[in-house]
Amino acid sequence: MESLDDAGVYKLSDDLAIVQTIDFFTPVVDDPYDFGQIAAANALSDVYAMGGKPLTALNVVCFPTKSMDISVLRDILKGGIDKMKEAGVTLIGGHSIDDKELKYGLSVTGIVHPKSLLTCSGARAGDKVILTKPLGTGIISTAIKAGKAGKDTIMKVTKCMVSLNKKASELMQQVGAHACTDITGFGFIGHASKMAQQSQVGIKVFSCSLPIFPEAEEFCKKGLCPGGLYRNREFYGRTVEFPTKLPDYMKDILFDPQTSGGLLISLTPEAAELLLRKLKKAGVKDAAIIGDIIDKPIGKILIE
Ligand code: CO
Ligand code: CO
Ligand code: CO
Repeated sequence: MESLDDAGVYKLSDDLAIVQTIDFFTPVVDDPYDFGQIAAANALSDVYAMGGKPLTALNVVCFPTKSMDISVLRDILKGGIDKMKEAGVTLIGGHSIDDKELKYGLSVTGIVHPKSLLTCSGARAGDKVILTKPLGTGIISTAIKAGKAGKDTIMKVTKCMVSLNKKASELMQQVGAHACTDITGFGFIGHASKMAQQSQVGIKVFSCSLPIFPEAEEFCKKGLCPGGLYRNREFYGRTVEFPTKLPDYMKDILFDPQTSGGLLISLTPEAAELLLRKLKKAGVKDAAIIGDIIDKPIGKILIE
């Protein structure tokens, strides 16, 4: 647990460790089946971020039995199971309670070789940084809840959130990545600064290279921002330096809490070029090289 990584790791023997994580939350989209898939993909992601292979999962369910039809829960669980099947993960149980507010997620157990474990503390000055999914899912979920997002936008953001970080995880290990974390609730800045702090480096980010949902920009300009965005800005505002010309909506997007976001990967420039080609070939089409690891200032994110 000590390095603030995505999942907890417990070494069983010299060549085997287990990776464990739990994640559950309230719905981010209206469709129950889609929500189930998103929650599962999000929970599995913490194992992928550490270079692990998820094996088993337990359902975590809070359901308002008095006010909601049980078929909603069936659809959520079906979404979760289908996503686990895609990931090659076996559901072995779970626990449910009656609660006023619906919540769903998974507790996941995976395995990793202790030597190939990836943490957020391995980034080195001179590395390039890759982000594998576009930013802005929190803002778009807020727009969905407000009834302001169109069908196409909902489909697009859902497709992104249900997609597993499995391929990106396997490919980054093939090319010998140095460090990795996934972008979730603390937003791009929060997770990037965690990597910078843990690795004792700084990160220079090219804002024009960042993959971003164009719809997030549009909703953001209308003030449709989740509460978590402001909390992230309050908490991580001091770790980031923005250029004066950067528009406000871009700053907001960088603090936007993500659900089932992409992997943030640090690796040598040669490995980065190779990984980017492999990712595109594997269908991870939004992946981009978005920054440089620099030796100073330690723990800081410099946006360009
Ligand atoms: Co994570
Ligand atoms: Co997590
Ligand atoms: Co139980």
